[in-house]
Amino acid sequence: MSTSAPITRFLTGITTSGTPHLGNYVGSIRPAVRASLSASVESYYFLADYHALIKIDDPARIQRSTLEIAASWLAAGLNPDRVTFYRQSDIPEIPELTWFLTCVTGKGVLNRAHAYKASVDKNQAAGVDPDSDVSAGLFMYPVLMGADILLFNAHKVPVGRDQIQHIEMARDMAQSFNHRYGKHFVAPEAEIEASVATLPGLDGRKMSKSYDNTIPLFASREQLKKLIASIVTDSRAPGEAKDTEGSALFQIYQAFASAEETEQLRQAYAAGISWGDAKQQLLDRIDLEIAPMRARYQHLMEHPEEVEALLQAGARKARAVATPFLQQLRSAVGLRNLVDAKGPAKTKASKATTAASAGFKQYREKDGLFYFKLADAKGRVLLQSRGLSTPQSAGQSIARLQREGLAALDALQDQLAPVSDTAALAAALAELQSASEGL
Ligand code: TRP
Repeated sequence: MSTSAPITRFLTGITTSGTPHLGNYVGSIRPAVRASLSASVESYYFLADYHALIKIDDPARIQRSTLEIAASWLAAGLNPDRVTFYRQSDIPEIPELTWFLTCVTGKGVLNRAHAYKASVDKNQAAGVDPDSDVSAGLFMYPVLMGADILLFNAHKVPVGRDQIQHIEMARDMAQSFNHRYGKHFVAPEAEIEASVATLPGLDGRKMSKSYDNTIPLFASREQLKKLIASIVTDSRAPGEAKDTEGSALFQIYQAFASAEETEQLRQAYAAGISWGDAKQQLLDRIDLEIAPMRARYQHLMEHPEEVEALLQAGARKARAVATPFLQQLRSAVGLRNLVDAKGPAKTKASKATTAASAGFKQYREKDGLFYFKLADAKGRVLLQSRGLSTPQSAGQSIARLQREGLAALDALQDQLAPVSDTAALAAALAELQSASEGL
């Protein structure tokens, strides 16, 4: 069994329905990029384009937003080698798992989902049919989100407060499924970064596309200057002491500045700094952080093929985990090969994860532990794992071996039985590696 410290898996999705703004940057992009640099976490970030279809029926806008969001995350420093960064619609296991979860979710639970209820309440207030203009997509949205999360058995899901209910629903789905079919899912938890959860917008309300009060993350310096000039302040004149409490300008500054810088601005407020000067300071402070990323953003926006290639690679990485896991779930619910598993007691799920001549197999033994092995075309075992506590760690190790080949052996040493024929193993891994690179 692996002796390494337990890894916390983070996963979050970004709906591809808009252009990232400073609120998104401070509230999700920046903390996620920082967290992804830690060695004890494993991060999954994805572009939630299936979710975008719920709100948007303009295909060009979905495509554009997908590019803008991907380019923003990459420009902000997300390293696709360290994280799994993918597009939801590249993972067909997600809609399939959505169906499995749909079948273990009470309809009444979905009736109580905030997003759906808000629409119903609005219709009722307007005196029209409660479900008027409500798509089944909006109604089913929490299940799709549950599938996003559970497919990768995420432990922590960084989200805004408005999403907490969805994470709770995902927990319930995990429990209902586990209760019926055995323990396959971990129960995810919402992770709220309290200090940065909301950034005020130009008008002082939460920065949000729906209030039309946002500052685009990659506005030019000139645009940024104009927008900052329009931040609502009170009418206090230069020389008059100003309140930091309730000052949107101050709060935005604080989200970018160090504690000392923030303290200095606090003192400047007390000393009567003019709003013009305070706005200039804010502009400079934001630009200091954002300007270096702008060039990379522009480059990526002009080279969508680079972003596309990164997303394709991310999808392969994600599916190296998702495909065998979904295979396990299909078997668990009874969607099985008629020949393979005779009788309900037999749950041993064993599937090759590649159609190449050599292939990995993942399976569970009577000891309850999860194993994998790599066999050549003749069935000779080239690599054998030890018992692992979760199917995910097996899936991840397979993914890594497929990606990195022999180079992954050292790091996975404590998960593996000693190798007898290294040359044959190297050949098989090289073959799989080129297959996984889509060559
Ligand atoms: N619904 C989320 C939002 O609107 C986006 C999202 C989709 C998501 N799937 C997810 C977030 C899974 C976290 C995990 O913000």
